[in-house]
Amino acid sequence: MIFTAIPEDVINEIKYRNEIESTVSQYVNLKRAGKNLVGLCPFHSEKTPSFTVYPESGSFYCFGCGVGGDVFTFTGLLENLDYIESVKLLAERSGVTLPQDGYDDSFQKIKNTVYDINRETARFFHAFLMSENGKWALDYLTGRGLTLKTIKHFGLGAAPDSWNMLIRHLKSKGFSEADMLTANVIGGSKGSYYDRFRKRVMFPIINIRGNVIGFSGRVLPGEDKNTGKYVNTGDTPVYKKSENLFGINFAKSHCAERIILVEGNMDVISLHQAGFCNTVAPLGTAFTSEQANLISRYTKEIVLMLDADAAGQKAIKRASKLLENTGLNVRVVVIPDGKDPDEYIKKNGADKFRALLEGAVSDIEYKLLTAAEGIDINADDGKLRYLSRAAEIIAASDDVMTRDIYIGRMSEKYGVSRTALTAKVDELRRKNDRYQKRQEFANLVKPKSGVGELNPEKRRNLKAAAAEETVIAVLLKHPDFYEKIKDKLPPDKMVTSFNRRIYGIITQAIEEGKEPDISVFAEKLIPAELGFVVSLQNSLKADENPEFVLKDCVKVILEEGNMQKISDGNDSTVEDWAFGLKNLIDKKAKGN
Ligand code: CTP
Ligand code: MN
Repeated sequence: MIFTAIPEDVINEIKYRNEIESTVSQYVNLKRAGKNLVGLCPFHSEKTPSFTVYPESGSFYCFGCGVGGDVFTFTGLLENLDYIESVKLLAERSGVTLPQDGYDDSFQKIKNTVYDINRETARFFHAFLMSENGKWALDYLTGRGLTLKTIKHFGLGAAPDSWNMLIRHLKSKGFSEADMLTANVIGGSKGSYYDRFRKRVMFPIINIRGNVIGFSGRVLPGEDKNTGKYVNTGDTPVYKKSENLFGINFAKSHCAERIILVEGNMDVISLHQAGFCNTVAPLGTAFTSEQANLISRYTKEIVLMLDADAAGQKAIKRASKLLENTGLNVRVVVIPDGKDPDEYIKKNGADKFRALLEGAVSDIEYKLLTAAEGIDINADDGKLRYLSRAAEIIAASDDVMTRDIYIGRMSEKYGVSRTALTAKVDELRRKNDRYQKRQEFANLVKPKSGVGELNPEKRRNLKAAAAEETVIAVLLKHPDFYEKIKDKLPPDKMVTSFNRRIYGIITQAIEEGKEPDISVFAEKLIPAELGFVVSLQNSLKADENPEFVLKDCVKVILEEGNMQKISDGNDSTVEDWAFGLKNLIDKKAKGN
């Protein structure tokens, strides 16, 4: 865990200038609900708002997925930054100058080293590609139709057929093997390191801010494919494959209107070369909600152009589901003859490709088209089956005009009355609505994604944990009462270790004379843990007498703690006992 020590008054100044309400509003459509605000959570997919902003305490919490925190946590989650980076970003945005030194940004230092290693590695691969020895790779790339200009533009390279040329090069530039390992450009362990990419064509992956964050390496045709056609950098301090997109560094300034999503590196590069600079690809994963959110901040419309094979088609359905809640317009292109975009544009040229793009159908239209697969719509029962599938697809749209348009089209095309189809769609919507509400309610009442795991001891110590949580909640609101319980309840008396940690943080802050607001925790806890603290902070009922409640809770915690000691002394728990009993019964049942 990294503890930054940016002076508290500087942090407060930045918070003051970046109010949570207005910062969140830049990304989420918020509606007022009493003194708080609610909206659709940007961190998970939902249809009824459970994402809550508390302007009073400068915090947020999602009742659906359990994340929470302060304005820095929020920015960090959305912009893929760690805590100190978010502080810096918001400081920059609001014109606050941070003191130069005096705070520990060791994680930032590691990231910078990884960026440096990646940049140097990209240079090395590129130089090798352009050298005499890299001719095989250059021939391959030009053979696939890439111009030298494109190759340079994307900084493409080649990894030599060697186990240590990159290691030696990076060493000569002063990098340590430990750092190379962190950057995931080498593999192995002490004494037996090796270059991770060997004899491959190399594609640097560059983030929105222009840093090289990783690589994809492609084998040459006919070479050993045991290791996979493409190998990518694994997750590192600067790269998480589920959160990045290949080509986004160039696409970001060409995609105000729309962005094109393709499958692989070569598709992106070919399309950029042909002038379609608004193309990106996820690498080695299915499209994720993080990527959907990233895209939705740069463009209005996304065109899904995945391979025509079954996997590609499945990916389209998955992606369009993820994209539903981002507010993006989603359209789909199916490339004829089972080609991928790279092959198509090479064979047919940019104009044909543009026509294809213009013919992109809406995602509903696409689903309506593919829903007919395997159904004989000329037969009466087939037609009926198709129409009820179609009604489901139409019902999934939340836009009344969109529904109306497709109801009109379908009724015309299949000779069924508008009234009948509308009735069917409405009925499905009511059903979906009820289902959705039930689901979301179920999510609300069950423990949040993390909480069960956040505090695994809670299950066995329900009473103690509940009291601990109340103590924490009271102290968050009324730190002055700490004086009254301080001697009776030092942190080590807390029964569950998770709450002990939270309590430790809050009491330390109070001792240091700090206001124990959410930011005291922000860099010491992960978002799910923070969410838990924010939910505690807002859980206290107004009419409760805090002093009385505190006294009661302390008593419970101490008693429960003592009981636990006794049972620990016995070295067995109720569960152990029950397990033993069950064994006994089983044995009896088997007759021995
Ligand atoms: N893939 C990957 N890592 C990459 C690129 C692709 O793991 N950097 C995986 C993806 O899962 C993708 C599959 O390989 O779904 C196929 O990618 P694609 O670009 O369509 O491959 P090809 O067209 O076969 O490759 P190329 O164009 O280079 O011949
Ligand atoms: Mn391809």
